[in-house]
Amino acid sequence: MISSIYISQAVGEPSEDDLFDLLEQCRRNNVKKGLSGMLMYGGGNYLQCLEGEPADVDELLKTIDADPRHTAIKILRRVQITSRQFTDWSMGFEHVTEKSFADIAGLSHLGLGAYNPEYLESNPEMIDTLLRWAARSKV
Ligand SMILES: Cc1cc2nc3c(=O)[nH]c(=O)nc-3n(C[C@H](O)[C@H](O)[C@H](O)COP(=O)(O)O)c2cc1C
Repeated sequence: MISSIYISQAVGEPSEDDLFDLLEQCRRNNVKKGLSGMLMYGGGNYLQCLEGEPADVDELLKTIDADPRHTAIKILRRVQITSRQFTDWSMGFEHVTEKSFADIAGLSHLGLGAYNPEYLESNPEMIDTLLRWAARSKV
């Protein structure tokens, strides 16, 4: 299995309904392919972790890359894994807000302004902190 993480910029500002519809679509499709992961959205940026068999993840990433709902997709990580971080979710979701930052141990000194491609790319440990927080907050 592999785990792949990318960041991207939303095109326009997705409404709560848009995000709900997107999540429904993710879950419907991913469950069929044994894919799992976490989608985070905040301040105009998506961060997604996808876990599954390499061929399935890579194929989905091609589809996602062509999706007009976002742009500037940048894959930050693609690593082999032996166990999933997001066992329970065909796609988890977390809305990242200013309050999230206040709540996340280790990130409370930052604000939503740090949740952007440039910062995440140069501070990869923040990605792990965010994903760990997202995983925990659903238990
Ligand atoms: C930020 C973002 C994340 C997405 N994540 C997934 C996903 O995890 N699984 C999925 O099937 N589609 C995902 N999509 C949607 C795909 O780009 C594509 O629209 C969808 O897979 C097509 O599914 P359909 O053939 O059932 O209409 C995502 C789209 C965006 C914009």
